[in-house]
Amino acid sequence: MIVSIIAAVGKNNEIGYHGDLIWHLPKDMKYFKDVTYFHHIITGRKNYISIPEKFRPLSNRKNIVLTRDKNFFEPGCIIKNSLEEALSYAKSNNETEVFIIGGGQIYAEALEKKLVDKIYITHIHDCFQADTFFPKVDYTQWSLIFKQDHTGDEKNKHNFTFAVYQKII
Ligand SMILES: NC(=O)c1ccc[n+]([C@@H]2O[C@H](COP(=O)([O-])OP(=O)(O)OC[C@H]3O[C@@H](n4cnc5c(N)ncnc54)[C@H](OP(=O)(O)O)[C@@H]3O)[C@@H](O)[C@H]2O)c1
Repeated sequence: MIVSIIAAVGKNNEIGYHGDLIWHLPKDMKYFKDVTYFHHIITGRKNYISIPEKFRPLSNRKNIVLTRDKNFFEPGCIIKNSLEEALSYAKSNNETEVFIIGGGQIYAEALEKKLVDKIYITHIHDCFQADTFFPKVDYTQWSLIFKQDHTGDEKNKHNFTFAVYQKII
């Protein structure tokens, strides 16, 4: 099973502010949906509850929520108390590619423990006020396997680039 991370990051690696996303980029939301559709997704509890109620659990995906709270319950979700348990659950369900969708704590743990094979990053070409950041990545250990530039428009106010990195073995 491939273990992937998917994130959108500003120029300073910023990913969130006050428990929410910082920008509104419908094209990136569509990309996120297209990439993760029909897969298992793993999310930190804080990221999960930041998703507007009408959109959660994320449709057509197995939503695995990570929490240390043994009594946590969310309808339609699988609750796990460690990243390793979440990954083995996806693997035992014959998942081919599982997506770790954030937030900051979960990205950091997955990268620190070297559990990640691929990183899908939307690089947003602007800086934002933030309190949550994507971990520093040593890109000499990763090869860029996909890159697609997008210019901002009426609905997507920032320039951005979709990039996919694969771990160099
Ligand atoms: N730009 C992006 O692509 C992107 C993507 C995702 C999220 N975000 C942003 O990131 C922010 C949220 O990130 P965050 O770092 O504050 O929180 P988070 O990573 O979403 O969630 C943290 C929570 O996950 C649980 N957790 C963490 N490590 C765990 C472990 N090893 N085992 C079991 N449970 C564990 C804990 O839940 P309990 O407290 O319940 O124990 C912890 O409080 C928001 O602003 C969100 O909008 C941005």
